[in-house]
Amino acid sequence: MSEHNKVSMTTMNYSKDREKAENPLNIMDVTLRDGHQSLFATRGRTEDMIPVAELMDEVGFWATETWGGATFDTMHRFLNEDPWERIRTLKRYFKKTPFSMLLRAQNLVGYRNYADDLAEAFVERAAENGMDVFRTFDALNDYRNFETVVPVIKRCGKHFQGCICYTMTEPRLGGDVYNIDYYVNKALALEKMEADTICIKDMAGLIAPYDAYDIIKAIKEKVSIPVHLHSHFTSGLSPMSHLKAVEAGVDIIDTCMSPYAYRTSHPAIEPLVMALMGTNRDIGFDIKQLASINEILEKEIMPKYKHLLADNKMSIVDINVLLHQTPGGMLSNLINQLREMDALDKIDEVYKELPKVRKDLGQIPLVTPTSQIVGIQTVNNVLFDDENERYKMITAQVKDLCYGLYGKTAVPINSEVQKKALKGYSRGEEPITCRPAEVLEPELAKAQEEVKGLAVDIDDEILYAVYPVTGKKFLKWKYGKEEPPEEVKARSLEDALKEQELVLKARKGELVEKATKDAAEKGENIREFNVFVDDEYFNVGVEEIGGSPVISYVQPAQAPVVPAMPVAASAPAAPKVPAPAPAAPAPAPVKPAPAVSAGDVEGTPLEAPMPGMIVSYEKEVGDSVNQGETVVILEAMKMENALTAPKSGVIKSINFKSGDAVAKNDVLCVIG
Ligand code: CO
Repeated sequence: MSEHNKVSMTTMNYSKDREKAENPLNIMDVTLRDGHQSLFATRGRTEDMIPVAELMDEVGFWATETWGGATFDTMHRFLNEDPWERIRTLKRYFKKTPFSMLLRAQNLVGYRNYADDLAEAFVERAAENGMDVFRTFDALNDYRNFETVVPVIKRCGKHFQGCICYTMTEPRLGGDVYNIDYYVNKALALEKMEADTICIKDMAGLIAPYDAYDIIKAIKEKVSIPVHLHSHFTSGLSPMSHLKAVEAGVDIIDTCMSPYAYRTSHPAIEPLVMALMGTNRDIGFDIKQLASINEILEKEIMPKYKHLLADNKMSIVDINVLLHQTPGGMLSNLINQLREMDALDKIDEVYKELPKVRKDLGQIPLVTPTSQIVGIQTVNNVLFDDENERYKMITAQVKDLCYGLYGKTAVPINSEVQKKALKGYSRGEEPITCRPAEVLEPELAKAQEEVKGLAVDIDDEILYAVYPVTGKKFLKWKYGKEEPPEEVKARSLEDALKEQELVLKARKGELVEKATKDAAEKGENIREFNVFVDDEYFNVGVEEIGGSPVISYVQPAQAPVVPAMPVAASAPAAPKVPAPAPAAPAPAPVKPAPAVSAGDVEGTPLEAPMPGMIVSYEKEVGDSVNQGETVVILEAMKMENALTAPKSGVIKSINFKSGDAVAKNDVLCVIG
């Protein structure tokens, strides 16, 4: 280590003017994308990035990550924000620092492979709107899925960063599939595709320090382009891995500003600056400048999002990641899904089933969208399988994977599972071996036609093409054709602080006492807050009187309960509305469903086996169906489930429409 300390102590100081290092480590900041994606479900709003944007632009980051991943989805779905507008807005404040985005290759910013025409248009528009670095990955590390987007990135004169998704099958690097040779070969393949840089994308925070050292050393020996390490903190390994990566000669590392760091996010920048100060890898940042940015984030921004942090744990390290190799976001999704199904007690079974499903599906890396594909199929198996039948409810995405629509898996898919999945599959029962997008029909023109009259420009059209259901809803909000619901509106700092105070009072029991005293004074200007304290739910009314808020009434309430469906003889009790999701994009909040009483329609109900959102009905009222035929496509945790008719007959009633949120056991339609 002594060779790192060449600079004398007297030349060291906190500011930027200290002696420049021989080979300074470059830093990409991921606060404004992966940081809030990891810690608070991607809910960060553009208005909360602006206060630090100009200061961050001065730091000297190699790039700052502002887009991609779940941002595109979450922004239009939950924040009523135009994702394209975010790039353009932030670009006005970041004048020097390049922007980086996470591009899921042919999956773009969605969860399936899109057709080539849409992929090309998307990349062109992202570049045109201000994106500079395209960090491109494929969940299967199948680089045939890069073949369409890379030439467009290059043609637009932008930076192509090729990723290798880091995954393992053993507790540490090694084994038959994911060993050093695997990673070196992937790096060589990326260099051949003219990648400008290579990124080792350790989305679950699994890379151990000495493995990071070995991989980076081996890659640096074989390829000449810079190597970048992206490693989440989740397991607690990454600060150590960062240091070993630096010693192995890594060129760029991802970090977050400290208020957005650690837990399932990334290590913070500040300790790394201090660790390398005065060495030949000195980053050269001004630590006081970083501190001033942190102060704004900490005091003015974070309070608005605190309620979204998964905060009932003391530990900031997630040991489950080491045991089960599940990325942080995937884990919270699984827990959410189980909670909504009233099946949180099945979590250990899920952990046991997960490696089996992953192996059946070709030992694929676990990263969006494969983490969802494996995760939700695992939940389905645990909840719906019995001793007579495995894979009883196979999601549409697993069927697509089995068909080859995502690409080539690391090892072959279990042939029995594959056969079962492809039975009656619409594209054919024989899997493909070509580049997946080759079998996809062009889709942009069709989408443009569908959204005619609503979309104003190509960016709107692409948004709709990638997210037809929620995209259409968003465009209606955007152009004033529909009033956006209350829950997509921004919270002010004032509201956030007020709500925190209420939670504190509720915890102390003070709110309940006031309720009896003030309940009669409920006025017209009451603003209602839903306050969740652990498993308890309070409906709190707040009214502004003479400038200071007065708590007018508090009802320790039953969480709004979805009416149970009397149609089914023994329907289990409807689940409680869940508390706000702790992390990762969650499904739309469950709304009370219109009640359908037994008297309404005679027949056999098709119930939602899980909470989710209706994608489409494949049948209309009056259509006849055969038992086993698909009637409804239900999206749950981003995965589509084809729900089939429980018996043959005629569709008597349809109770929801595309885009509606439904609860478990809601009657989706009745077959008579
Ligand atoms: Co990440």
